Amino acid sequence: MSCYDRLDETAALWRQLADGRNLLMLAPRRIGKTVLLNHLLGTAPEHRFRAILLDVEGLLDEKAFFRECCASIQEEQTTGKKVMASFAHRLSRLLRGGAADDDWRSLLVRTDWQSFAEELFAHIDDHQDDPPWVILVDELPVFLQRLQDRDGPAAIRDFLYWLRGMRQKYQRIRWLYAGSIGLDSIARRQRVEGALNDLDPFQLGPFTPETARLFVADLARRRGAELTDAAARRLCERLGWLSPYYLERIAEDACAGAGVGASVETAHVDAAMDRLIDLDKRLYWASWREHLDRNFPEPDRTRLYRILETVAKADAGADGSLLLTALARGDQVVGELEARDLADTLVTDGYLTRDAAGRYRFRMQLLKEWWLRFVVF
Ligand SMILES: Nc1ncnc2c1ncn2[C@@H]1O[C@H](COP(=O)(O)OP(=O)(O)O)[C@@H](O)[C@H]1O
Ligand SMILES: [Mg+2]
Repeated sequence: MSCYDRLDETAALWRQLADGRNLLMLAPRRIGKTVLLNHLLGTAPEHRFRAILLDVEGLLDEKAFFRECCASIQEEQTTGKKVMASFAHRLSRLLRGGAADDDWRSLLVRTDWQSFAEELFAHIDDHQDDPPWVILVDELPVFLQRLQDRDGPAAIRDFLYWLRGMRQKYQRIRWLYAGSIGLDSIARRQRVEGALNDLDPFQLGPFTPETARLFVADLARRRGAELTDAAARRLCERLGWLSPYYLERIAEDACAGAGVGASVETAHVDAAMDRLIDLDKRLYWASWREHLDRNFPEPDRTRLYRILETVAKADAGADGSLLLTALARGDQVVGELEARDLADTLVTDGYLTRDAAGRYRFRMQLLKEWWLRFVVF
């Protein structure tokens, strides 16, 4: 997957990493985090870093996390194999006091993960003349959620504070943690903000209108079609929030609808967008709903749904007092601050925007259309 544009973002990320900062990039799904992380991975050597990318979404426990870490270091092009061989040597000597040279995998099985990982970080921190390491961790919130499901909330706290300790102790290793929405609320709920407060937040936004228009025109060209300027503008306007994923889906579908070699017009774009919210495409949007179901316990979940319903139905957007009225249904009272906090969570998580006058609206017109059709009854 090649990474279109994102030039300002990557320049800023490399600059911050070179300045010794560690970063936290939380952004809604499908905005392009994984694409960007892969791009960082591929361009690390030219920025004088050795990078590894860990996708921790499917990992079950801490040992699996560090197994992944070692396997990725081993695959790193420049010095990976050498680094892991000397690490295994170092750890065997330490554990056995002797000369036996065990494979790192068998050492990990026999060691507790804290000692193992600490030795690993001590080893790669001590990099002498080689470029420093940057560890890119994708989908950290999902991994934490899994730890919590297995061992309870303390597992998240222990792991996050332990990682923080490692960042403080081994300061030449850079970290970038990424994830879809959720970590903020996990951290707030478990009161572990302190474990993250040394990280610099990095905002990854949608494409700018200009980049988005060039992106969809480029996609069409690569499929042998020509997307008119008016069609590109229409696409961006109706989508509203220029996430590369949806731009790509709609542009491809519009091209397919126009036929080979045809000019792709506004009508093709509109038809593609109508199709996108049709019944058979529901899965494209279902993740927005799942996110609420998965990450928010009651009564917050119901309240978030209520806010979204209210905003979706309010043509001119919904202000705080409208939300308060909507939330006041039933016997539970929701205070102004709490309502604001809930609505702002939906802003952070990509559903809504809030304008200067304090009015909330859906970020993506299409998501609003889908929400009204399939979620609100
Ligand atoms: N910079 C980009 N250039 C080209 N395509 C992109 C870019 N960013 C995202 N995409 C498209 O959007 C999809 C979702 O991006 P991804 O990085 O997986 O999102 P996230 O990790 O934030 O959920 C990608 O598979 C790709 O098709
Ligand atoms: Mg991703």
